[in-house]
Amino acid sequence: MSAAALLRPEPRPEILAIDAYVPGKSRVEGVAKAHKLSSNESPLGPSPKAVEAYLACARSLAVYPDGSARALRETLGRRFGLDPLRVLCGNGSDEIIALLAQVFLRPGDEGLYSEHGFLAYPIAIRAAGATPVVAKERARTASVDALLARVSARTRIVYLANPNNPTGTYLPYSEIRRLHAGLPAECLLVLDAAYAEYVTRNDYAAGIELAASCENVVMTRTFSKIHGLAALRIGWAYGPAHVADAVNRIRPPFNLSAPAIAAGVASLEDAAHIEAGIAHNARWLPWLSQSIDELGIGVTPSAANFVLLEFGKNSVGDAAEADAFLSARGFILRAVEAYGLPQFLRMTVGDEEANRGVVAALADFVRSGRG
Ligand SMILES: Cc1ncc(COP(=O)(O)O)c(C=O)c1O
Repeated sequence: MSAAALLRPEPRPEILAIDAYVPGKSRVEGVAKAHKLSSNESPLGPSPKAVEAYLACARSLAVYPDGSARALRETLGRRFGLDPLRVLCGNGSDEIIALLAQVFLRPGDEGLYSEHGFLAYPIAIRAAGATPVVAKERARTASVDALLARVSARTRIVYLANPNNPTGTYLPYSEIRRLHAGLPAECLLVLDAAYAEYVTRNDYAAGIELAASCENVVMTRTFSKIHGLAALRIGWAYGPAHVADAVNRIRPPFNLSAPAIAAGVASLEDAAHIEAGIAHNARWLPWLSQSIDELGIGVTPSAANFVLLEFGKNSVGDAAEADAFLSARGFILRAVEAYGLPQFLRMTVGDEEANRGVVAALADFVRSGRG
C-alpha cells in the first residue's frame, strides 16, 4: 500500500466491526402486488386524524419544528400520566436506543442484551465504543437468571425488548422487577416496549412504573407499530430527570420533524384507532399461530404483532426454501439468521387477505413435499 493510501480518515475500528442493520425486504422481483409482512408495520395504517395533521403541515414547511417536541411530550404526559419534562422524543425509538448508549457507555464498559434480542442494541453498544455481552435465552425467551449471571463490574447498560423482536416472547412484570432488583444501581435498564400495546396478558407491564420511580430505568416506546406511523420516525422514552437531561445535551436539536410531532399528537388523540389495531391483532395473532401450528410448522408463542415460524430439523421444511416459496406468491416475510435463528422466519400479522393467503401458501408448501 502506498503512503498516500494510508493518509485518509480512519473510522474507529469498533465502527468497522459493526454489521449494519439490514431492514426487512419490501418487494419481490417479478411480483406486482406483494404483501409486506417483514417489518411489523400496522396492517390498519395510521389514524385518518394523524394523516390530516401531517398534511396540514405542508403549509409551513419553511419553519423549523419545535426542537423540544413539547406538544407531543405534553400529550404523552396527559395520555400516560407522565411528567412531560421526563419524556424524551426520538427520530424513532432507534435513535433513543443509540443516544442512551452514547450517554452511558465508554470504551471498556459492557452493554448487555439477550441472545435473540433486537439487533439495534449491539450496534448502539459498539458504536459507543463499548463491548456487547450476550446472555443465553431459554426457549427463545429472555432469562433473568442468565442476564444477571452476565452482569459484571463493567456493565453499564442492559437492553431488554419486552416483548422481544424477533421472537415475540415476553417476560411478566414480576420477572422485570427481579431483573431490576438484581442490577447494580449504576447500571441503566432500558425496557424497550415497542410492542406493548399488543400484549393482552394480565401479568405484563411496559415498565412505566419502574421508569417513573427508579433512577436507573428507562422505558422506550414507538409510533411505528400500533400507531401505523413508521414512515414518520417517532419514538419516545420515559425515565428519570437526570437521564432526560443528559440525553437532551446530545440529542440532535430538531430530531422530530413538525409533521411527525403533529401526526403523533393527533394519533394519541384517536383512541378508537388504537383500539381497532389492538382488536385486529387480538383476532388474527391467535388464528395465525394456531393455523400455522396445525400445518406442523413450529410457532413460538407471541405476545406481539408478529409470529416466529420454525422450519428445519425440529419442524418441517427449510426456512430459506419457505421464504422463496412465499415470496414467489407475493408474501414477504423476514429471514432472521442475523438473530441467530437461521431456520426461522418472522411474519407480521397482516390484513385478512394476507393472513389467509400466507396460511394457504404454507399449506401448499407443506403439501408440495418441501415441507
Ligand atoms: C424491539 C424494537 N425496538 C425498537 C424498534 C425501533 O422502532 P422505531 O421505528 O421506533 O425506531 C423496533 C422496530 O422494529 C423493535 O422491534
